[in-house]
Amino acid sequence: MTSQRLFTAILLTTCIFIANAQYPVPMPPGGRMSVHGWLILPWDTNMTDGPVQAWFSHHVPEFWTDSPHNFQIILNGLLTPLACFNTEPTPQPIPIPYPPRDNLVEYEYTITPPPEFSLNDLLLGTLTELKGVVYNGSFDTSYERIPLALATLTVRELTTAVYLNESKLIPNYPELRYLSYPRDMSPSADTKPFQHVYLAHEIHSVPDFDHIVHASIDTTRCHCETGLPSLCNTEQILKDIRTPGVEWAFPSLINSLQNRLQPPMVIRGRITSGPVLCPITILESIHCMVGPGFDKNC
Ligand SMILES: *[C@@H]1O[C@H](CO)[C@@H](O)[C@H](O)[C@H]1NC(C)=O
Ligand SMILES: *[C@@H]1O[C@H](CO)[C@@H](O)[C@H](O)[C@H]1NC(C)=O
Ligand SMILES: *[C@@H]1O[C@H](CO)[C@@H](O)[C@H](O)[C@H]1NC(C)=O
Repeated sequence: MTSQRLFTAILLTTCIFIANAQYPVPMPPGGRMSVHGWLILPWDTNMTDGPVQAWFSHHVPEFWTDSPHNFQIILNGLLTPLACFNTEPTPQPIPIPYPPRDNLVEYEYTITPPPEFSLNDLLLGTLTELKGVVYNGSFDTSYERIPLALATLTVRELTTAVYLNESKLIPNYPELRYLSYPRDMSPSADTKPFQHVYLAHEIHSVPDFDHIVHASIDTTRCHCETGLPSLCNTEQILKDIRTPGVEWAFPSLINSLQNRLQPPMVIRGRITSGPVLCPITILESIHCMVGPGFDKNC
């Protein structure tokens, strides 16, 4: 091996190592091959044609060490409709509810690329486009899933990507914890006192549950436990709440399936990294499955 080749080899190895450093397990390119579906959580929009901006939740994860699904993933993506072969000249809007016009999502909308693909490649950022079928429903809904459209899912950011460790030694979080994702990501919403969010139960220790709800927060009713003005002004509170993937704890509730957030609850939650406490109104429960295989409805 020439020194230049050796250098290139070391550089490549280092790059792969760095790329993998964020995950506690090896991520060989091409690994975790399987069919992976995604739950669509649409953002607020004024446009119902063209690409749909949304959060996409990995549907469904699994805890098993040898499973190709052992990550909780919530990504920021774009769903672009595809024309259906020769039957339509131009792509039609994807017929799903668009907030805020449709206040509630109500059903499970999913996209599944029919062929298997490598979840590792997606997690390493080398796979960013998937073509798939958009469905109303999924294998876990009471009704049979209905194909609605063909679309390309473009991954814009891996907002949350956490390895699921099946070890029974990992203690459950004592209090209920969810991660939040703003529904209106337009800059004009940065100063709106009334915020809608999707909340995803933080999957952490076996058996756990994968639960996604839609909630609203009246930030004028938030308060701080400490009197620090730098952390507790309206601007900072809104910034904290609008951070995608921010972690909330619900101190009054033990972290169990029976205590999950359900409409029409109004519950006080706190952003775990700071002193902010807010009353949160649960509007709808969108998806709920019980681990460790997440193949059973709650
Ligand atoms: C929709 O349009 C209204 C009025 O122009 C604007 O205030 C709002 O920010 C827009 N929402 C989004 C999500 O772009
Ligand atoms: C989704 O499917 C359910 C059950 O069949 C149906 O009631 C609902 O109207 C459908 N939603 C859309 C947007 O087609
Ligand atoms: C999984 O958790 C166990 C128990 O805490 C720990 O020993 C092990 O290193 C963890 N595995 C990974 C890949 O993080």
